[in-house]
Amino acid sequence: MECGALESKWRLGCSCHLADGEDRFAGKGEEGLLLVSRPLAIFGAGGQAREALQLVRDINGASPAWDVLGFLVDEGYLGQGTVHGLPVHGALPWLSAHPEVSLVVAVGSSSARYGIVERLSSRAPNSFATLVHPSAWLGDGVEIGHGSLVCAGALLTTDIRVGRHVHVNLACTVGHDAEIRDYATLNQRVSVAGNARVGTGCELGTASCALPGVELGDWTILGAGTVATEDLPANVTAVGAPARIVKNRPPGWHSPHPGEPW
Ligand SMILES: CC(C)(COP(=O)(O)OP(=O)(O)OC[C@H]1O[C@@H](n2cnc3c(N)ncnc32)[C@H](O)[C@@H]1OP(=O)(O)O)[C@@H](O)C(=O)NCCC(=O)NCCS
Repeated sequence: MECGALESKWRLGCSCHLADGEDRFAGKGEEGLLLVSRPLAIFGAGGQAREALQLVRDINGASPAWDVLGFLVDEGYLGQGTVHGLPVHGALPWLSAHPEVSLVVAVGSSSARYGIVERLSSRAPNSFATLVHPSAWLGDGVEIGHGSLVCAGALLTTDIRVGRHVHVNLACTVGHDAEIRDYATLNQRVSVAGNARVGTGCELGTASCALPGVELGDWTILGAGTVATEDLPANVTAVGAPARIVKNRPPGWHSPHPGEPW
């Protein structure tokens, strides 16, 4: 099956076709070839990172794919020796010494994730993995970008484009022809209806919805339970049903600030 950089298809019980165009298997292949799990590190050591570890363990339970070598944090955050039995390393020196290791950024905030990816992309040679839980259901024509996570119970119907470093959390639903752009975060039980467009870096709170065809501008935030019935501009926070704008942020608010590690 063909796989481009953003061309992937998963179905329960089938092998995974990842955004980097490679399949992951371990054990004896059909021709008796011994294939091995690939090394992976998880950036972050908090709740989202532990959830990412569980996601990888479930993927491996269905078909061994990844060998998780540990968690990565900025040096200033070092202090935890291990998390769930795996070591926590300082990110940049460790990645430079392990260029073969794939990486996923498991940090829940879209803007923080953006800053981390920007920084790592310019300083570390590592590629980004794409992780899809075996219980997620992805129909025909669903594309998932590099570095994105699709968690347990997510349902993505057909002809959907999910960008890079997107988090699709537990039990989200995404309808036909929707687009979820880079760095967006769909928290648990978010519904993005058919033909909707979620802009770059948007954060959709738990159980929020974007109705059919609605467009959310880049770096806009929906509070938990919000129903976006109409298009929303970029850089706002909206809450309620129907959504009302409660905050306007300056363009570029998501960019890294001086003094932050990135
Ligand atoms: C909207 C949200 C992001 C807060 O944004 P904020 O810019 O800090 O907004 P504030 O807390 O200042 O609230 C602004 C107004 O919106 C209201 N509000 C906040 N969240 C709301 C929500 N989910 N639904 C309805 N109203 C909400 C506040 O009561 C406040 O109203 P007021 O001005 O009448 O007092 C946050 O409340 C939220 O819903 N986050 C979702 C988190 C989530 O789902 N996380 C999942 C990870 S586990």
